[in-house]
Amino acid sequence: MIRSLRGMNDMLPPQNMVFVKFIEQASSIAIKYDFEFVSSPILEETSLFKRSVGDSSDIVGKEMYRFFDKGENDVCLRPEGTAGIVRAFIQNKLDKKGGIHRFFYHGAMFRYERPQKGRLRQFHQFGCESFGEQSVYEDANIILMLKEILNSFNIKTTLKINSLGCSECMPPYKKRLVSFLEINKDKLCEDCHRRIGTNPIRVLDCKNENCQNSLINAPKLLDNLCNSCKNDFNELHNILKTHNVEFEIDNHLVRGLDYYTKTAFEFVSHDIGAQSSIAGGGRYDTLVEMLDGKSTPAVGFAIGVERLLELIEKKDEDRDGYYFGALDENCVNRVFEQCIKKRKTAKCYIEYKPKALKKHLNSADKLNARYCAVIGNDELNQKKIWIKDMKEKNEFFENFS
Ligand code: HAM
Repeated sequence: MIRSLRGMNDMLPPQNMVFVKFIEQASSIAIKYDFEFVSSPILEETSLFKRSVGDSSDIVGKEMYRFFDKGENDVCLRPEGTAGIVRAFIQNKLDKKGGIHRFFYHGAMFRYERPQKGRLRQFHQFGCESFGEQSVYEDANIILMLKEILNSFNIKTTLKINSLGCSECMPPYKKRLVSFLEINKDKLCEDCHRRIGTNPIRVLDCKNENCQNSLINAPKLLDNLCNSCKNDFNELHNILKTHNVEFEIDNHLVRGLDYYTKTAFEFVSHDIGAQSSIAGGGRYDTLVEMLDGKSTPAVGFAIGVERLLELIEKKDEDRDGYYFGALDENCVNRVFEQCIKKRKTAKCYIEYKPKALKKHLNSADKLNARYCAVIGNDELNQKKIWIKDMKEKNEFFENFS
């Protein structure tokens, strides 16, 4: 038997419809915040991710699905969405146009990681990217929108924020950090030895406990911010507090992608195991220029859809639509007719096989239908449909329409 590749799953019931609902609901919230749908190819030139996510990052260095196509082009399956959207933004000359451009997207991403709970090799992201707005209010706007999406599914998370500084304050901080790391090198893991030379701030979020213990006296990013970054970070706290968004400052939150500047954030959940990051994002003011576009400030985030689906529980409030079934063979035709009529105004499920009432009620329940509508010989004679409201648990009749 041929099986799907490791870490690549089919999406089947019951998660499939929750997925559709999530995309619908998240899209409508994004539209409310003035974001427009955008889509970019799954396959891109490898150099796009080397120059954006960063050559030294694990994503590019170890996890890319990379190959040469028939035209000998070095290509890869996208490991994340931001770089492709930035490429599209530049290629379509929106950087030259100026103004604000806000986009949302969703689709499959690919990372050759070691699969485990919450960590797949093919997974889906729902992301938003905002171009052209320098103000920290846009960072707050993005965080509020993401929070609204999570709240709309009743998902409890902790927001962690940090500032990664800018081209003025980050380079001197990195120098200070490297000096500290060189002195303490013998206490750090092999991976961190490599990171000192390639991307020293990634040492800060190393998962190795010994490394973390050795970093207690390391220079802190937040103590080394320039005035502009410090002011923006303080302003972000104020806006979040005003809007009752709780947050934790995490000095070691550096994110696994190299393009971030200033605000970086993650929403984490302790209900899904070790892979606790549900969504992450931040500001990336230099990325458009790094990819040869006109310098444009930008900020965005992406949600890991599979991780989020793990946290969405099917609730009675989510019951939707009508389930139609026949009790007797000669009622099937009428059930079919009534279902077609009802479908003009409501979502409908239909079962063609006549069954006992209990079996229909079970099926309606499994489908999370709001109403179970059945017709037997009695109902046929009285020209009525028997209906059970599966949420309110009451029963009533409706005349044939
Ligand atoms: P990221 O933190 O690498 O950021 O990914 C965002 C989310 O994708 C994570 O929080 C996680 O929920 C999910 N995710 C990542 N890897 C996996 C995996 N192997 N299996 C399942 N889910 C996964 C980005 O990708 C940035 N592009 C976000 C962004 C947009 N920053 C600015 N704009």
